[in-house]
Amino acid sequence: MRRFVFESRDARLEASVNELVSEELQSFVWPCGLLMSCYFMHNKAVFKDKVILEIGAGVGLPSIVAGKLGASKCIITDRADEEKVITNIKKNISDNELDKVCAAFPVNWGHNIVEDLAKITEETHVIDYLIGSDVFYTTEAFDEILLTYAALLKTNPSMIFYTTYQQRSVNRSIVPYLDQFNLQATLIPIPQFLHPCHQDGVVQLIQSTSDGSTASKLLDIHTFDDIYMIKIVPKII
Ligand SMILES: C[S@@+](CC[C@H](N)C(=O)[O-])C[C@H]1O[C@@H](n2cnc3c(N)ncnc32)[C@H](O)[C@@H]1O
Repeated sequence: MRRFVFESRDARLEASVNELVSEELQSFVWPCGLLMSCYFMHNKAVFKDKVILEIGAGVGLPSIVAGKLGASKCIITDRADEEKVITNIKKNISDNELDKVCAAFPVNWGHNIVEDLAKITEETHVIDYLIGSDVFYTTEAFDEILLTYAALLKTNPSMIFYTTYQQRSVNRSIVPYLDQFNLQATLIPIPQFLHPCHQDGVVQLIQSTSDGSTASKLLDIHTFDDIYMIKIVPKII
């Protein structure tokens, strides 16, 4: 269990998530997920009373933070062939007492997402925001993710897509893919003070130890300088 304490000028929020004992991508909070959660904490008015769909959620930290900040509904999804990941997200929702706000579903990326969501969710919602942290982690994913957003736009035309992107190679860019789907992206400046590893601690990581006590621990060594917060919307023609 990892407990995160997020602080902004006027608010403090705690979120605990269980990480899985595994090396797989979905098992733990990636730096992108942490930076996105910090961004939400400092922009909480944006998400108040809004419906959010998270794709490739892993343990689901950004949605849990959004749920605590007043989002009206967070639909948290990850790949359909990973049952234990969805079970873990459900546990994270309950542990954070967000059962009325958040729900977890197995949903794959792709053009069938609208139909797939309709099959497994009881209610239908107009989605205000699509969110996905560190979902552009392979070049194959670039196409799939933007295809997913484009498919969702058909039924949710004003939906905005917030993503955090880690620059792992200068030879990769999402720009050609954006053009293909008639989308445009803007970089959201993240002030240094907002970076989770800033020494004044916008976020603290408190690790539970085996005897039940807690100890503050220096956050994973990551500068967050190679992570970008991006807003994607349809291109205005
Ligand atoms: C790098 S991890 C990021 C996890 C989490 N968003 C975070 O930032 O901590 C990528 C996530 O995308 C999910 N994923 C990969 N391919 C997928 C697909 N085809 N459909 C749905 N989810 C997928 C993985 O299961 C994993 O949780």
